[in-house]
Parts: sequence; C-alpha cells; structure tokens
Amino acid sequence: MSRALHLAGFLIASHVTHSHAAWRHPGSETDYLAPGYYRRVAQTLERGKFDFLFFADLLATPVRYGDDIRVPLRSGTQASATIDPALVAAGLANVTDRIGLAITKSTTYFHPYEVARIFGTLDHLSGGRAAWNVVTSLNQAEAQNFGLDNHLGHDERYDRAQEFLEVAYRLWGSWEPDALVRDKASGVFADPDKVHVVDHAGTWFKTRGPLTVPHSPQSRPVIIQAGSSSVGKDFAARWAEAVFEIDPTPEGRRAYYDDLKSRASDFGRNPDDLKIFPSFVPFVGETESIAREKQAFHNELADPVSGLITLSVHTDHDFSRYDLDAPIEDVVVPGTQGLFDVARRLSVRDNLTLRDIGRLYAQGVLLPQFVGTPEQIADQIEEGFHGGEADGYILSAAQAPGTFNDFVDLVVPELQRRGLFRTDYTGTTLRDHLGLGPATLEPAARGRVVRAGA
Ligand SMILES: Cc1cc2nc3c(=O)[nH]c(=O)nc-3n(C[C@H](O)[C@H](O)[C@H](O)COP(=O)(O)O)c2cc1C
Repeated sequence: MSRALHLAGFLIASHVTHSHAAWRHPGSETDYLAPGYYRRVAQTLERGKFDFLFFADLLATPVRYGDDIRVPLRSGTQASATIDPALVAAGLANVTDRIGLAITKSTTYFHPYEVARIFGTLDHLSGGRAAWNVVTSLNQAEAQNFGLDNHLGHDERYDRAQEFLEVAYRLWGSWEPDALVRDKASGVFADPDKVHVVDHAGTWFKTRGPLTVPHSPQSRPVIIQAGSSSVGKDFAARWAEAVFEIDPTPEGRRAYYDDLKSRASDFGRNPDDLKIFPSFVPFVGETESIAREKQAFHNELADPVSGLITLSVHTDHDFSRYDLDAPIEDVVVPGTQGLFDVARRLSVRDNLTLRDIGRLYAQGVLLPQFVGTPEQIADQIEEGFHGGEADGYILSAAQAPGTFNDFVDLVVPELQRRGLFRTDYTGTTLRDHLGLGPATLEPAARGRVVRAGA
C-alpha cells in the first residue's frame, strides 16, 4: 500500500448529523443522550479500522433565523439539543482501544489553560488518541451564552485563535516527557527541573503555568481545523494536521486541496503533514436502485426551513427576511464565509432558489451524497483519492448508526480488497494511524514564505 487512505466518522453529540432528516429516519436510534449510542458507533467504526470519530459542536440553540427559538426546537434543527463532546469522548476512551477521538472546542469562548487541560487529559485517558477540532465559533447567540454582547469579528477571532494555539502548545510543553519520576522509595514524585512555568502575557491571554497535566502520549492532540475563508485556510495551513472540508463538487474539492497544500508549503511545511478530509453522506445498497431509494426516502424527510435555520446559524446571517422562491442573494456574512460561498456557487450553477438551498442544507449541509453499490461507492472514493481531492474522507450519517454499519460491513471490505485501506491498525496512537511523525511542540511556522514568482 503506497499512499494510505484515511477514514473518519462524523457525529454531533445530539440527535442529528449534517442531516436534519437523520433524527426522523425510522432507522435512527433515539437514545443519543445515553452512552450506549456513542459506544455502538465508535465500536463499529473501530471494527472498520477507521482513523477517528469526529464530534462537531455548537454552543447555542439556533435563534438566528427570525430570532425565533420555537421553530428550531419544534423541528429538532441542528444544535437544538447537544451534549458536551469532551465528556462523551472521555467515556469512549474507556470502551475503545484504537480509534482516534476528535472533539471540537472553540478558541473564542474558552481559555487555553482549560482547553490544554481537557486535551492533555483525553490524550492520557485514550492512550494517545486525542484530536482537537479548533474552531473560532460562528454566531452571536454563542457570544450571548458566554457573557458577551457581541461575537468577535471574523478576522479578530482568528487572531485570538493564533495566540490561543501558541499558549496551548507552550502549556503542553510545560512538562518534559520524563518529568514524572514516581519513585516510591526515594519519595520523588516529579523532577521540578523538568516542569516549567509558561508566564505568558499576550494580547488575549495571560497564564502562568505549568499545566497540571503531565506530558501526554502524543505530546498534544492532533490538530484538526475547518476554516474555509482565506484567513481560515491560512490558519489551517499553519497549524492543522487534518482539515475537514465541505464541498459538493469534485472541482471545488480539487481546488481546495491544491490551495491548502500550497498554503502549507508557503508556511514551510511538508504538505503531506496536512491531511485533507472532504465529507460525504453515503447511501449503500445491494443494487444501485435500492441505494437510490434509500437516498430519496432520506432526502424527502428534510425540511427546507430547518435547513435555512442551520444556514443562518452557520453564516450568522438571518435568511428569514428573503423570498424563499428567489435565488440566494450575494451578501457579506460574518460566520462561515466559505460555506456561504459554496451555497452561492451551487445556486448560480444549478439555478437554485433559497428554498432549494434550504432543502439541500437540511439534507446534509451541502455535503455530496455518494450513492450506489459498495463497488460504486468505493469507485467514487478511489477516484477522489487518486484524483487530487482527498487524503481521506469523513463520513456523515443519514441515519445513525445504520449508515456506519452499512459502510463498515459493505464498503470497507471493498476498499481493503482494492488495497486502498488498512486491514488492521499498525500503531496505537492517532498520529500513527494518520502517518504523522512525532508531534512538535514548537508553534508551527508563523511567517509566510512567499515563493519566487508567487
Ligand atoms: C466544514 C466546517 C465544519 C465546521 N465545524 C464547526 C463546528 O463543529 N463548530 C463550530 O463552532 N464551528 C465550526 N465551523 C466553523 C469554523 O471553525 C470557523 O469558525 C468558521 O467557519 C469561520 O471561519 P471561515 O470563514 O474561515 O470558515 C466549521 C466550518 C466548516 C467550514
């Protein structure tokens, strides 16, 4: 196997995934407030030798569409009920052995000391399987939940995130790997010369250190990011080791792949150390027509207004004030600019109205749907993997855990038969699975290297 394909599963610790229809699907389990649900998904993906299970997270009930909380609560729109993924992941560390556990934490609403502590702890409890999806958060409602009147501006959030990561890296490095002595006979617990204060005082944060959590198996979590604006992509190119991407078109995915890899080189990094993971929703059937029936059944359950509520949350822009039957307008949004650009691009290309975009958003936040027999789905993955759009894929479920069961039982063996995907784990940490070398605790290159002719 030359270049290795990577696979991850996507969840929100809640009743839905990217698909709003997921919770209404008769095949979906309904006990997503209980640990067994997450255990079943994680163990299934581990049986399928997946690299990691990924948890997205949002920090507010959706109120961005017409400032109305009743409609999203009634229809179960994304983020209307979520539990804390860090605690879910800590539970999963106990019932899995190999699969990576990636959770989302915001650099806008937490403090680096707290976040460094959470991930240091998770990395210990999981034996080196922790990853952090670094997000800058999306909307005003989240600000209001965390004591602020206004959400920080888009680029300011990234400025804060930059300092956040620098501080977190220094905290993770505050314990040298061999600082814990634990010598019962001499009574020496730790070597104080190997535990360092951090004494950081910057624009956004002050912290003294050291971290209370000793050096962890991976030194720090794997860094995942999902920025889609130009400043977001630069942030990813600097820091991320995996990037989570949403783009429904192969040409968009190829352009994103090239763009990010070249930004990583501009920062003096080896582009192979930044793995790109587009996401898709699979519909697998014994025949293509069975798969298409499954897709149509699922898509029919998606409610366009719920989709527009989620679009409003993601972009931090109120789409309730526009004509549902007109094309989506070109507005400047303070939330996720890249996802809005994708919506606009689709709308122009396919002549879609705002209602159509709402429907697509409810079916899966503009994720592509890969539909067909196990062989046809493996073909699409292979094509994208070899065709310059992906180092791996994040699977999002149309129904959970059914989508993951189908994929692991039917598509993974086909990918393995083709020599594309591992038949067993060869290492124990998430860094091992992703083929990343030892983690550096030096903040990634900060200055941009401009190439000759660029
Ligand atoms: C594919 C994708 C997934 C994201 N997942 C989350 C998430 O789970 N939680 C969150 O608060 N923000 C999430 N974000 C928001 C980003 O982290 C970022 O804060 C926001 O998109 C603004 O940056 P951008 O304009 O560079 O995309 C996601 C964005 C994208 C594009």
